[in-house]
Amino acid sequence: MKASVLAHKDFTISKIDDRVYGAFLEHLGRAIYEGIYEPDHPTADANGMRGDVIKLVKDANVPVVRYPGGNFVSAYNWEDGIGPRGQRPVRLDLAWHTSESNAVGIHEFADWCASVGTEMMLAVNLGSRGVDEARNFLEYVNHPGGTYWSDLRIKNGRKEPWNVKLWCLGNEMDGPWQVGHKDAVEYGKLAANTARAMRMFDSSLELIVCGSSNADMPSYPDWERIVLEHTYEHVDYISLHMYFANRDDDTPTYLGLSEKLDTYIETVAATIKQVKAKKKSKKEVYISFDEWNVWYHSNKKDREILDGNSGWPHAPGLLEDIYNFEDVLMVGLILNTFIRRSDVVKIGCIAQLVNVIAPIMTEKGGPAWAQTIYYPYYFASLYGRGTALQLKTNSPSYETKHAKETAYIDVSGVHNEAEGTLTFFVVNRHPTEAIDVELSLQGFTAGEIIDHQVMTHGDLKAVNTAAKQQEVAPKRGSGASVANGMLSLKAAPYSYQMVRVKV
Ligand code: AHR
Repeated sequence: MKASVLAHKDFTISKIDDRVYGAFLEHLGRAIYEGIYEPDHPTADANGMRGDVIKLVKDANVPVVRYPGGNFVSAYNWEDGIGPRGQRPVRLDLAWHTSESNAVGIHEFADWCASVGTEMMLAVNLGSRGVDEARNFLEYVNHPGGTYWSDLRIKNGRKEPWNVKLWCLGNEMDGPWQVGHKDAVEYGKLAANTARAMRMFDSSLELIVCGSSNADMPSYPDWERIVLEHTYEHVDYISLHMYFANRDDDTPTYLGLSEKLDTYIETVAATIKQVKAKKKSKKEVYISFDEWNVWYHSNKKDREILDGNSGWPHAPGLLEDIYNFEDVLMVGLILNTFIRRSDVVKIGCIAQLVNVIAPIMTEKGGPAWAQTIYYPYYFASLYGRGTALQLKTNSPSYETKHAKETAYIDVSGVHNEAEGTLTFFVVNRHPTEAIDVELSLQGFTAGEIIDHQVMTHGDLKAVNTAAKQQEVAPKRGSGASVANGMLSLKAAPYSYQMVRVKV
């Protein structure tokens, strides 16, 4: 089989916002406790943060991390997580049927972000709380001093304000599972009032209003329209969430889910335009895809705790999906979709970062390692920065319930002018056929291949574990070549690859 791709230097989609390669950390399961924070761990730093996890996060150059939830934020009192540790209250976490020690709060998280070199993206509680909590939290985090909340931050050990720019106005407020769930009008009004108050403090904040929890919600896509009608002039982004699953063990259909993702983005982008036109606004609103990942492997195991049959444990192993090779392909496809939609998707957060549906796993007192999906995320974050190219791809295709035609070869291309590189991320969805791919590089003076990494595996269900950390890992590719402005490569059946060319 053959596929062809045409890339032209002047045919671009958008400058990619680096923050599309962000991540998410929630007070959930072992994400915070035993994930990033384990004071007794042999690699722990002076703040009790695991050094091995810091290294894996740093390696992936994560630009922004959303915190503290998630469903957790909708009944969270941020004040519980400040002040001397010994005096912080233990609370019930209704979202995940667990207990929260509050040993980690905003100060510890901020210090950890500084250690890994990432920005904070904070969510305010618009479930059980509202405008008042949001304005106080903002003052605590961003005001230099001389007021009640800012002086309390200084007293608690942090002199300089953190100056956090990105703020989420609640989380998944359309979901009946959410503490303080609201209908679109109720939420739209609350979000608008909260945004107005936050902007009175600082008009340059970047605010994110909640879109639907997923594209199957009964209120979707009216939710987006109604919420934006209330908030359009006060916010910069609308959030989308989507989780991917292969419950029927039907790989071709599973890998076709990126078509559903694409339609989801297209529909919300159209809704944004509709509201913009209705409001006769000159302002743009973009998409923050602040929760995405594969999530289903752990569903059955988690029922016991989520149904309340285990009491209220602290930091139990929840949502610990162990990812396989097939999930590498899915994550590669999701990231390709974000690159191709970089004109509207400006922020993205892989959900989540450590232990909880995460690319990084840890063992208490033991090692931290990269799950299979770490690698496509890592490659996109490191090399998917620059300008997205509008590629013309011709590939044989197949039909799924998500789309009439799903190309076997899925590709995204990024030109980094400053570095003089062209990077392609290529997924072959074909179960049995290797596909020869010819990429015509027009308007570029293509030089040598500077990196070529390939992921394949004989077993779609192969996983990485503490004992076998490199079972599914990238290998240096061979056989790709550049001649006469043409990049040629072979994509093995069910494979992911990243190839970089000097231009
Ligand atoms: O990431 C896990 C959960 O998924 C989040 O808490 C919630 O926002 C979503 O439903």
